Amino acid sequence: MVKVKIQYVCQECGYDSPKWLGKCPACNAWNTMVEETVSSKKDHKRNNQAVDKPRPITAVDMASVPRRLSGVAEFDRVLGGGIVPGALLLIGGDPGIGKSTLLLQVAAGMSADYGEVLYVSGEESAAQTRMRAERLGKISDNLLVMTETNLDEVVLETNRLKPALVVIDSIQTMFSPDIPAAPGSVGQVRESTGKLLRLAKESGVPIAIIGHVTKEGNIAGPRLLEHMVDVVLYFEGERSYAFRVLRAIKNRFGSTNESGIFSMEEGGLVEVKNPSSMLLTERPQNAPGSVVLACMEGVRPLLIEIQALVSTTCFGMPRRTAAGFDYNRLILLMAVLEKRVGVMLSNQDAYVNAVGGIKIMEPAADLAVALAVTSSFRNLPINPYTVVMGEVGLTGEVRMVSRVENRISEAVTLGFKRFVIPSGNLANIKLRQQGLDIIGVSNVTEAMEAVWI
Ligand code: TYD
Ligand code: MG
Repeated sequence: MVKVKIQYVCQECGYDSPKWLGKCPACNAWNTMVEETVSSKKDHKRNNQAVDKPRPITAVDMASVPRRLSGVAEFDRVLGGGIVPGALLLIGGDPGIGKSTLLLQVAAGMSADYGEVLYVSGEESAAQTRMRAERLGKISDNLLVMTETNLDEVVLETNRLKPALVVIDSIQTMFSPDIPAAPGSVGQVRESTGKLLRLAKESGVPIAIIGHVTKEGNIAGPRLLEHMVDVVLYFEGERSYAFRVLRAIKNRFGSTNESGIFSMEEGGLVEVKNPSSMLLTERPQNAPGSVVLACMEGVRPLLIEIQALVSTTCFGMPRRTAAGFDYNRLILLMAVLEKRVGVMLSNQDAYVNAVGGIKIMEPAADLAVALAVTSSFRNLPINPYTVVMGEVGLTGEVRMVSRVENRISEAVTLGFKRFVIPSGNLANIKLRQQGLDIIGVSNVTEAMEAVWI
C-alpha cells in the first residue's frame, strides 16, 4: 500500500507547503496554491538515465539531430523543420478548435513515411477516431489507435512497439495509478507528464501531448508543465471562423518566431498559402470604421482589417468591447484620442473587431485601431488602398515598429499603394518601387491628415 499525503502546490512556481496559503511566499502570487496528493514513495529517478561526466563544450559531438517530417508542412515549419526524436511536445488550445484533428493528420502523415504511430485517445472511442480519420481521407494500417487512460499501459505499449510518434489525447484524461488523485487534477497531470517525459527521453520516441486550456488561456494544470516539455504550441482561432493559427511559445529545437496558418475545412485542416488575401476577401470599400493593418504573425506579415463602430451611448455608462484586440489597450487608445487629438468619445459606445477571428498581439496595431475608431466616430471613410502600422504612445506619438519592409511588401502583392508608417521607420526603407506612396507620421494627428479620402 502506497502511503499518501496532501500538500499544496503553487501553480505558478511549484512551491509546495503542507498547508494552504492565500499568497505564495516564493513568487508572491495570490490564490495559486492548489491541493495535491503525493505518494510518499521517493522517486528520484533521473530524466535521462545515462550518467554524464563534465567535459569541455568543444568536445561535445555536434551531430545534427535527424528530424522527421509529418507531412503537414505548416506544423513542421513551426517546429523548426520537423519532429525531433525523443522530444516531448505540448499542444494547447480551446475545446473544439481542432487539436485532435491536427494531431490525427500529423499521426497519419508520420505513419505513411516512418512506420507505426500510436494514437492514444482518452476522450473519444476508437470508432469515433476512425470516423474522423476517414473524413480526413488518410487511413493506413500503421496508424494504431488505443483508447486507454491508464498511463502505465501506454508506457508498456510504447516500449513494445517503438512507434515513430505517440499522441496523447488528452493529458487531462490520463492517470498514473501510482498516485490516487483524480485524472485532470494538478497532481495527476504533473505526474503523468513526468512519466511521459521519462518515456520520451529513454525510448527516443517523440510524444505529442494535447492539453486543454483554462478560462484564463493557460494550459490547464500547473504552469510547471510548460517547463517540463521541450516544445509548447498553442492552436488558436475563433471557433465560428475557419481560420486557425499554430504558434510556438517555447521550442528547444528551433525559434518561436514561426507560426502555421490553417483553415478548417470539411476534409480537415488545410494550409493557407495566402492568408492576407483570404482575410480581406469581404472587406467593404469606402466604409467608415474600416482600416487595413499590416501586422506580424511570428516572422510572417499578415494583413488584417480592423473594424470599429462608435455610436452615442443610450444609458449612462458607455460600453466598449474589443474582439481580437486587447480591451485595456482600446480604453487607453480612446483616452489618448480624447486628450491628445480632441476626439470626444466619453459619451460614445465603441466596438472594435479584428476581422477573421484573428487575435492581434502586437502594439503595431494601435494606430489602425485609433484610426478606425475616429473614422467611425466622424463618419469619414479611409482610403481603401491604404495600409496602416504603428504603435501609439501616451502622448499621442507614433512609435517605430519592426520589419516594416516585410509588411509593405506583403501589402504591395495585394495591390495596396499607400502606407502610413511611423516617421522613425521612414529612414530605413530601401524599397523604392514605382507608384508607392509611403508616408511617415510622428503622431496620431498627422496620421489622420494622411488617411481620409
Ligand atoms: P477537434 O479536433 O475535435 O477539436 P479539439 O480536439 O481541439 O477539441 O475539432 C472539432 C471541430 O472541428 C468540430 O467542431 C468539427 C470541426 N471539423 C471540421 O470542420 N472538419 C473536419 O474534417 C474535422 C475532423 C473536424
Ligand atoms: Mg479533441
